[in-house]
Amino acid sequence: MRRPIIAGNWKMNKTLSQSVDFIKEIKHLGDNTDVEVVVCVPFISLDRVKKELEGTNVKLGSQNIHWEESGAYTGEVSPLMLKEIGIDYAIIGHSERRQYFNETDETVNKKVKTSLNHGINPIICVGETLEEREENKAQDKVKTQVIKALKGVEENQMKDIVLAYEPIWAIGTGKTASSEDANEMISFIRNIIEDIYNEEISEEIRIQYGGSVKPANVTEIMNQPDIDGALVGGASLKKDDFTDLVRF
Ligand code: G3P
Repeated sequence: MRRPIIAGNWKMNKTLSQSVDFIKEIKHLGDNTDVEVVVCVPFISLDRVKKELEGTNVKLGSQNIHWEESGAYTGEVSPLMLKEIGIDYAIIGHSERRQYFNETDETVNKKVKTSLNHGINPIICVGETLEEREENKAQDKVKTQVIKALKGVEENQMKDIVLAYEPIWAIGTGKTASSEDANEMISFIRNIIEDIYNEEISEEIRIQYGGSVKPANVTEIMNQPDIDGALVGGASLKKDDFTDLVRF
């Protein structure tokens, strides 16, 4: 049985004080341990939010991570810094980072391996553009991203990884992939994992869907057999919406 995981990706939203106020309002959502609840907050809020989450079951994640422990990488944040704060997850390879910050399959792979080596669980994002979907290239794109992200990752590390399928055309647009289409791609990803590793690992790995997940569509999405959770942007910023999502 895979435990569902609902993760909020706040992206570049909420100042430090807003983050702390918001966390106070939602931290009780971890009380339902049937679902794993994660908040991925801006770097500067991580430490304060971590303190606020003490004694709760809500997990904390960053939205990025660097692959080196330290060095001349102006503006970056290292795994050692994040580990000391005590984060549980790091989103890696979000399409916004790939699109605006030149994240590549190679840097994604380095970040995945670094995270695993530092005991931080990667949430690896993959997904196709609208053009790729229309040209029937969606599966090829996602397959390449998955294979490259996991290059060199050992079998025994796979239990620490979460994958998130986020079709780029569904992010922040209000357009959701139909739950069947999302399930089909996620089932395809599971087959890729089986090809690389084995059936047991492919059955155990949790794979989320992301892209305009809202209270109105979350139940249908979560009812799909291969979908284990949601990575949520906009709707994770509002208390009522995020509460409904966690209670899908
Ligand atoms: O990482 C979550 C994401 O990209 C989806 O954003 O606003 O469409 O839920 P949103």
